[in-house]
Amino acid sequence: MFYRLKDTRTDMKLTYYGHSCFSMEIGGKHILFDPFITGNPLASEIRVGDIHADFIFVTHGHADHILDCVDIATRTGALVVTNWEIHEWLNKQGVGNTHPMNTGGKWQFPFGMVKAVTAVHSSGLPDGTYGGNPMGFVVKSASGNFYYSGDTALTLDMQLVNSFVPPDFSILPIGDNFTMGFEDAARAAHMLQCRKVIGVHQGTFGLIKIDIDKAKSHFVHQGLELIIPVIGNTIEI
Ligand code: NI
Ligand code: MN
Repeated sequence: MFYRLKDTRTDMKLTYYGHSCFSMEIGGKHILFDPFITGNPLASEIRVGDIHADFIFVTHGHADHILDCVDIATRTGALVVTNWEIHEWLNKQGVGNTHPMNTGGKWQFPFGMVKAVTAVHSSGLPDGTYGGNPMGFVVKSASGNFYYSGDTALTLDMQLVNSFVPPDFSILPIGDNFTMGFEDAARAAHMLQCRKVIGVHQGTFGLIKIDIDKAKSHFVHQGLELIIPVIGNTIEI
């Protein structure tokens, strides 16, 4: 290995709402990612009406990433950041406070800089509308940096992420079948030069149920750390 995997600590808090839905608290702002709660039987304890959001980021149009977006955005007035096609779709659903991006672009938000990066997946919206291309997000803030890949295959483009923004931790899917499995997520961590991985998009339904102990020990053998967040819990990273 030509790089050192550093142990870093940030001033961010991550609250996990199940599947690929989580909120990052950065400098007092709540940034919610891929809101999907009411359709997740494992997240039945979560009260959607209690979730704070100043910003909502949506990686792609699939229902398991956008189901509760209109509801939460309408209640909170949060700014929704997503690709052009989903931005237009949200406008038609009555959500007007949106910020469109597309792959390769970056923007300075009040909590930090966000760059939209490649994800290899699909993005059709629940009603069949074309949902553009899926994206991942790299976030650079005064409290720390992270990469959330969204649903994606392992892709060599991940090698570029560290040169844009070196992530202190990464949130990656590990459930296999529809996205990377844990072996590819570990390969991704090496490409990202990022030791700490929060594993998501696993366990929600049959096709993405995996052996968590096996995944964790695979990461340990690779010199990496795999954190499996508990639904409803907040962790300081
Ligand atoms: Ni998807
Ligand atoms: Mn998904």
